[in-house]
Amino acid sequence: MPVSPLIELNTGALMPRFGLGVWQATDDETERAVVSALEAGYRMIDTAAAYRNETGVGRGLRAAGVPREELFVTTKVWNADRGYEGTLRAIDASLERLGLDHVDLYLVHWPGGDAGVRAETWTAMQEIAASGKATSIGVCNYKPHHLQEFLDAGETIPAVNQIELHPRLPQWVTRAFDADHGIVTESWSPLGGTSGSGWGERSKPNTLLGDPVIADIAAAHGVTPAQVLIRWHLQNDLVVIPKSSNPDRIRQNADVFSFSLTGTDMERIATLETGERVGFDPDEFV
Ligand code: A2P
Repeated sequence: MPVSPLIELNTGALMPRFGLGVWQATDDETERAVVSALEAGYRMIDTAAAYRNETGVGRGLRAAGVPREELFVTTKVWNADRGYEGTLRAIDASLERLGLDHVDLYLVHWPGGDAGVRAETWTAMQEIAASGKATSIGVCNYKPHHLQEFLDAGETIPAVNQIELHPRLPQWVTRAFDADHGIVTESWSPLGGTSGSGWGERSKPNTLLGDPVIADIAAAHGVTPAQVLIRWHLQNDLVVIPKSSNPDRIRQNADVFSFSLTGTDMERIATLETGERVGFDPDEFV
């Protein structure tokens, strides 16, 4: 049985509020994680060409045998493929690896530093939506100044903006901009990320899952820190895609619909804001 409530996108499509992230998992790990997740009631899988595991996602989807219409599959165009021709080629290559004829959501992975390339990429994204290869299109890591370009150009507004977001980095400004323009905000590194979230020297360890405030709230509810964090995203009206390759943690992360954080819990979690990222600043990752 699907576990997640749905949210309506600006395309009219329905998106689960909760799904599985698969960054940093190999094809084989991803295949197993996708099967575990679908068995646990997940219906949304978030991958990307850059994760190099779309083939594993496709294998997992076929092995689990959930009807296509119940699934919500997201993938992303990588930086090297941005631009008009590259983006059109990239969706075909992703669909081939996934073994699907369309994805539910196709995202631009990073904005990059060139407004001209962003505009060309978005022209291709709109053609991809018109062709039915993606039901909805959106972006990742866009700040308000990037999003403003769509408004200025009178372009199709992205359905989703997927950004690094967790209690240390609640992203108030971008979230407010998204909400004002009907864009759904989706949280990446929702549990505070992995040790590789920033890549190489920029990587920072996950300190959120071990935070004493989160641990205290978890103990009071008889749940785990990860479950507290996932509830925090859901209660903030965010779409959330915790990554795990471990079947027990995959099941645990989906078991978040039978308790609620109190107003006091939410206030305590708000004190954890530091503004620190675990991944790159989009203006610096071009
Ligand atoms: P693993 O795949 O071994 O479960 P984020 O979604 O913020 O990127 O964080 C993902 C990290 O948190 C991964 O390292 C993942 O490791 C770990 N993780 C996922 N779910 C849980 C959980 N329920 N408890 C502890 N760690 C978790």
